Amino acid sequence: AFPKRVKIVEVGPRDGLQNEKNIVPTPVKIKLIDMLSEAGLPVIEATSFVSPKWVPQMADHSEVLKGIQKFPGVNYPVLTPNVKGFEEAVAAGAKEVSIFGAASELFTRKNVNCSIEESFQRFDGVMKAAQASSIPVRGYVSCALGCPYEGKVSPAKVAEPITTSEKQKLKLREVTPPKQVAKKLYSMGCYEISLGDTIGVGTPGLMKDMLTAVLREVPVAALAVHCHDTYGQALANTLVALQMGVSVVDSSVAGLGGCPYAQGASGNLATEDLVYMLTGLGIHTGVNLQKLLEAGDFICQALSRKTSSKVAQATCKL
Ligand code: HMG
Ligand code: MG
Repeated sequence: AFPKRVKIVEVGPRDGLQNEKNIVPTPVKIKLIDMLSEAGLPVIEATSFVSPKWVPQMADHSEVLKGIQKFPGVNYPVLTPNVKGFEEAVAAGAKEVSIFGAASELFTRKNVNCSIEESFQRFDGVMKAAQASSIPVRGYVSCALGCPYEGKVSPAKVAEPITTSEKQKLKLREVTPPKQVAKKLYSMGCYEISLGDTIGVGTPGLMKDMLTAVLREVPVAALAVHCHDTYGQALANTLVALQMGVSVVDSSVAGLGGCPYAQGASGNLATEDLVYMLTGLGIHTGVNLQKLLEAGDFICQALSRKTSSKVAQATCKL
């Protein structure tokens, strides 16, 4: 059965703008977030407190977080990979943060420059600091349906007899089942776990199987899905999750998005398309589609790019 209402987590200002070739001016980011707040989105992931050497697009994180209008009842979480990021986020006024893990050893290495185990040691530090200041923490599991690096290893190849040097290579090629990473984040105290199809390769059957496994470890009320749309499956994958009772969905205005460490991945599910579908299903979101479309127009003009939202492109209206 579908949930009666869905909480949309708008990730465009972070997932979207982290991956733009050109650095987006800070006032544009602030205006975008204000327009998204105006459109009624309950959660807007504003920026990330990561290293500016790694992701220069997010270097203005503090200015963005300080500059936006804080609408009552709206949350503006930010990504914090470690205690340093957490402290800077809190100093800039963050009231909620996210830690981001992955089900893949190699992706973790490329994304945050350490092993899965080390990433959890860092998250532990963030968690303790957050708990001491009563700051809620959200947890991501990237590569839940496939990995840009490990995804290329076919199961058949792994099962073949292998040489020592190949073995060494394969040591890196380890995928921790998403359910284990999700369970760990949940048991550490994350109030919500967002399962990310980072490169948008999943299909509804994979989503169903992955969720079935994760649901044995984490209650459905604490789960969210985060689908990138590389293969055009994001809306279908999200629909399967909704049918399984998931009521929190990440999406991105105009379908912006991507990850600098997942080459070739396209943007997230477009928020406009999600809202259109949910409205059609009679599921409440509190989002004003017209205002959301205006926010999408604004950012696409500012970036001189075409929207990836089908709803925004549609010229025939009911
Ligand atoms: P590192 O180089 O291993 O860190 O980076 P380090 O601890 O060795 O420190 C090296 C230098 O970085 C030091 O500076 C630190 O102070 C500095 P130096 O002494 O050389 O001048 N540093 C920092 N500076 C600013 N903010 C910080 C910070 N931490 C250390 N927080 C680190 C480790 C995690 C910082 C780095 O790898 C990084 O920033 N990675 C960026 C990861 C990222 O933003 N990825 C994209 C977001 S995840 C995503 O998109 C997936 C998601 O959408 C879900 C999905 O789709 O699946 C969430
Ligand atoms: Mg993402």
